[in-house]
Amino acid sequence: MRNNNFWKTLPKPIIGLSPMDGVTDAPMRQLVQEVARPDISITEFVNVEGLARGATKMLDDFIYFENETPVIAQIYGIEEESFYQVALIACFLGFDGVDINMGCPAKKVALRGAGAGLIQNPVQAQEILQMTRKALDDFINGKTLEEAKVRPKVIRAIQEMYKKYPHMKQRCNEKRKNKVYIPLSVKTRIGYNEESVETWMTHIVETEGVTVDAIMLHGRTLRQKYLGVADWDAIARAGKIIKKYSPETVVLGNGDIQSYKQAREYVIKYNVDGVLIGRATFGNPWIFDKNEEHMEITENMRKKIALQHCELFEKILPQRQFFIMRKHLAWYMREFSGSRELRGRLMHAQSAEDVKKILNI
Ligand SMILES: Cc1cc2nc3c(=O)[nH]c(=O)nc-3n(C[C@H](O)[C@H](O)[C@H](O)COP(=O)(O)O)c2cc1C
Repeated sequence: MRNNNFWKTLPKPIIGLSPMDGVTDAPMRQLVQEVARPDISITEFVNVEGLARGATKMLDDFIYFENETPVIAQIYGIEEESFYQVALIACFLGFDGVDINMGCPAKKVALRGAGAGLIQNPVQAQEILQMTRKALDDFINGKTLEEAKVRPKVIRAIQEMYKKYPHMKQRCNEKRKNKVYIPLSVKTRIGYNEESVETWMTHIVETEGVTVDAIMLHGRTLRQKYLGVADWDAIARAGKIIKKYSPETVVLGNGDIQSYKQAREYVIKYNVDGVLIGRATFGNPWIFDKNEEHMEITENMRKKIALQHCELFEKILPQRQFFIMRKHLAWYMREFSGSRELRGRLMHAQSAEDVKKILNI
């Protein structure tokens, strides 16, 4: 069953788009897919307690498209029962893998003990891993959402998603029929207040009864948030510890990567199986193009991609307010003369049509 684990079959190095709440939504990931595919795609994080209690709006963050393979649902929270339900829901939506966020430093997440808060509570982290693994195994053994006591409101919302996105139902059915193993990964940081990879990595990989298929490691502590520089030496050390206890676990490093070329160099230098690129993708979906270093990103390319992104946003998430696009527009409009003035005008755009007019394309 483990043979169809995509973490094992993907060619190395694996270079993926790092999940970013409020940024890497379905339209952004779709844009990146169209420009140059990353090797893996991960959703924004979804709160397990919220979804388990019926906040079905959160399912918008689980929208993905057929060309996204493998696609991973990222979830976060603190209650293991909710992890069980939401991991099962992710399977019913046809995701190829489930990732648990143990790295978010935001106060509203970490102070509740979720995200990077789990670094300080390894017993809870292990229980969450065990319950999530159980849900993924129960799925292929025929467990239903009703049996798992998923709220009827959530089940109805999943049925609605099937109507809109038939590929989700199709993938779910295929996985269930062929008993496809659904891998479990963790995205985390190198420590809470201080770097503590030795103990923290050991806690994750020694979880009883669970093989963590991949660990994606951001080279900062919770306390650092996004300040300072990512500690890649700590990532390399963590990689060694992980492989010592669990040679099968795939290790991806993360933090401050600025280009595809640098990603490839760091894979070799720090001996990891791959990397995730986050903030350097802002306004730069070309970053996953293998020829990126030789590409000249022209003003025209920037304008066209900005409009394409807006159109995808309106098509995929018409229920959301257009101002969400403004930060992306500001990121695209840079490095050419007149970009500053355009940035200012785009801040008033209310639709893709407005953007088209302002950009005159
Ligand atoms: C705006 C923003 C939102 C983020 N949201 C998430 C998230 O939902 N899940 C997650 O695992 N990491 C999240 N991160 C962390 C990134 O995935 C990544 O680990 C971090 O930005 C370091 O990588 P980078 O230096 O390449 O950006 C977020 C980061 C930013 C800047």
